[in-house]
Amino acid sequence: MKKIPEFQLRNGVKVPAIGLGTFLTENGEVAARCVKDAVESGYRSIDTAMIYKNEEGIGTGIRECGIPREQLYITTKLWNDSHGYDNTLRAFEASLKRLGLEYLDQYLMHWPGLEEESYLPTWKAFERLYEEKLIRVIGVCNFTKPIMKNLLNHCNTAPFVNQIEIHPMFQPNDLIAFCQAEKIQVEAWRPIVWGRLDKEPIVKAAEKYNKSLVQITLRWHYQRNVRTVPKTTHKERMEENFNIFDFELTDDEMAAMKELNTFVRTGESPDEFFETKDF
Ligand SMILES: NC(=O)c1ccc[n+]([C@@H]2O[C@H](COP(=O)([O-])OP(=O)(O)OC[C@H]3O[C@@H](n4cnc5c(N)ncnc54)[C@H](OP(=O)(O)O)[C@@H]3O)[C@@H](O)[C@H]2O)c1
Repeated sequence: MKKIPEFQLRNGVKVPAIGLGTFLTENGEVAARCVKDAVESGYRSIDTAMIYKNEEGIGTGIRECGIPREQLYITTKLWNDSHGYDNTLRAFEASLKRLGLEYLDQYLMHWPGLEEESYLPTWKAFERLYEEKLIRVIGVCNFTKPIMKNLLNHCNTAPFVNQIEIHPMFQPNDLIAFCQAEKIQVEAWRPIVWGRLDKEPIVKAAEKYNKSLVQITLRWHYQRNVRTVPKTTHKERMEENFNIFDFELTDDEMAAMKELNTFVRTGESPDEFFETKDF
């Protein structure tokens, strides 16, 4: 079985360059089966969230996958309705319980909220859970550069991770460079834009390397030191999605991919979105 390469975070924790995303993966048997298929294929990292409502099924998969817990890297996220110091501590406990775990590898704040009164006390609770060694890696999602700068000015422990929307058609390059300079690992969500990647430079590279459009795109992220969590419920696609470590895009091919940026998100903008209910 091929081993997925790892990125090393600022605190020394090593994290697989590719994990399995689970947004819209059905709870129960489907989620459990996906974890087991993923682990059997070689994945060691799973990305879920409270709001995906599949933590129980993911937890079942973790217990049944046959791999010791300490070899897995499990991420879940705090939903917007649980911001605030005490709420965060309670929401963390509840996620752990649903997953059936005693600690988390990575806990992310799903959205910053529209004011610092939202994310600063929340982050204090993240820091406490990290100090208590209940979480190995604390991080955020959807933090823009100004929000991240403000958090960095107020925190004791800076986030180790920022998970943001990135794909060839939406490349927040300034934010990526800022996070990388601060030694905050960048993770891409929606890394393959649902497989809608039929663009000339991607097609050309796919033909040259005999790879799929998705593989070219995931390789492009990897060469930018961006961790990805592509989602699929299909085992053959799980295997396809990490079979990207036997070729390398040239500088010209990387530059051609940069030209695909349309600066248009597929998801919500962190400057406007703070839904506390289901979406
Ligand atoms: N932090 C955040 O705010 C945030 C927001 C969104 C997502 N996320 C995380 O990021 C993960 C990835 O994002 P995403 O799920 O929105 O989008 P994505 O991973 O870019 O795309 C997933 C879609 O692509 C399809 N797919 C997967 N592999 C494929 C392949 N090899 N060929 C063709 N199609 C393929 C999947 O279909 P099948 O399942 O049918 O194979 C699914 O419909 C999520 O699952 C979640 O864990 C985080």
